[in-house]
Amino acid sequence: MDVRALKTSDLELAGALLQHSFERSSHSHGVAPPWRTVAQASALLERYLQAEPGSVVVAEEGGAMVGVGALRLRGEVATIGPIASAIDGRGVGGAVLDELLRRADEGGAGAQRLYVDAWNPAAYALYAGRGFGVVDTVAHVERAPAPGPALESARGLEVRPAEPGDHEELVRLDRKLTGHDRGVDLGVLVRLVARRRGEVVGYLGAQVAPQEGGEAGGDGSGDTLLLGPAVAVDASDLFTLLSQVLAPGGEGALADAAEAAVLRARLSTTAPAAAMAAIGLGFRIRELGMVMSRGAPPPARPPQLYSIDPEVV
Ligand SMILES: CC(C)(COP(=O)(O)OP(=O)(O)OC[C@H]1O[C@@H](n2cnc3c(N)ncnc32)[C@H](O)[C@@H]1OP(=O)(O)O)[C@@H](O)C(=O)NCCC(=O)NCCS
Repeated sequence: MDVRALKTSDLELAGALLQHSFERSSHSHGVAPPWRTVAQASALLERYLQAEPGSVVVAEEGGAMVGVGALRLRGEVATIGPIASAIDGRGVGGAVLDELLRRADEGGAGAQRLYVDAWNPAAYALYAGRGFGVVDTVAHVERAPAPGPALESARGLEVRPAEPGDHEELVRLDRKLTGHDRGVDLGVLVRLVARRRGEVVGYLGAQVAPQEGGEAGGDGSGDTLLLGPAVAVDASDLFTLLSQVLAPGGEGALADAAEAAVLRARLSTTAPAAAMAAIGLGFRIRELGMVMSRGAPPPARPPQLYSIDPEVV
């Protein structure tokens, strides 16, 4: 088996492999696949390829494409995934993963992390067999954009729309709390910044879900708004940030949050009260997943919403 970098001319075939493989696996566990169409899966691979050439690989056997996988390098931490094979149990997933780990190592990422759905024992076994261990349970939370309950106890927290002048400070805070070096992602995604006594103590990013047509010039109504990445020093500050998104007309209210059909986030549950606070804000828990880690041990998980697109954990 040969594993090589994906080329632009491979995108359609690789997207089809990814979509079909996840559809097969998702349906056999009674859940919806992450991409409804091949075009959506190909578009994801194209975004990853354009952002980082060499970050998507394909496996070939006898001239046929049999596997695909991607990674995102964020300084000393690489996020692996998605990985898919055309035929299970023949070593394709392992070969793709080994090549991604080699590329992570070559790129200076001594820590590798990934997200895996809790319903997916084959993927869990693949990763556990390569030394990955679970470091977080992730709750997929979802809510209509109606105003939420007002949160008290903001303790002098000031939440404002992000400005260019915030960038350096919030990238520094993010690096300290998550280990990621992701100034480019944060420059594009961060919408709100929280300060206490002048210091940045948290931020929240949001975007219209790319795969559902948000980039295609829709008017915003009916879109899914993905919340995250969001990180805060303190769990209560993270939920104050979130409640601002839901507050009508508040300084932190996002116009596209009010117009969206649904708000979605992937919530870290390492902070003991995180899931309880999300439920208190009216979010429903739809699915569960896990963050797995290998290599250099991660810092203690901060209160956070994980970045969904690009997936960075
Ligand atoms: C998950 C997936 C990529 C695995 O690919 P694969 O080609 O079957 O993987 P491999 O053949 O290399 O097998 C991986 C290892 O897991 C082992 N394994 C698989 N299922 C197992 C289970 N339920 N319990 C224990 N071990 C298991 C295999 O025996 C193999 O071990 P080995 O490396 O020691 O030989 C593949 O099933 C797939 O494409 N699934 C759909 C998409 C998906 O869910 N992707 C992962 C999410 S990011």
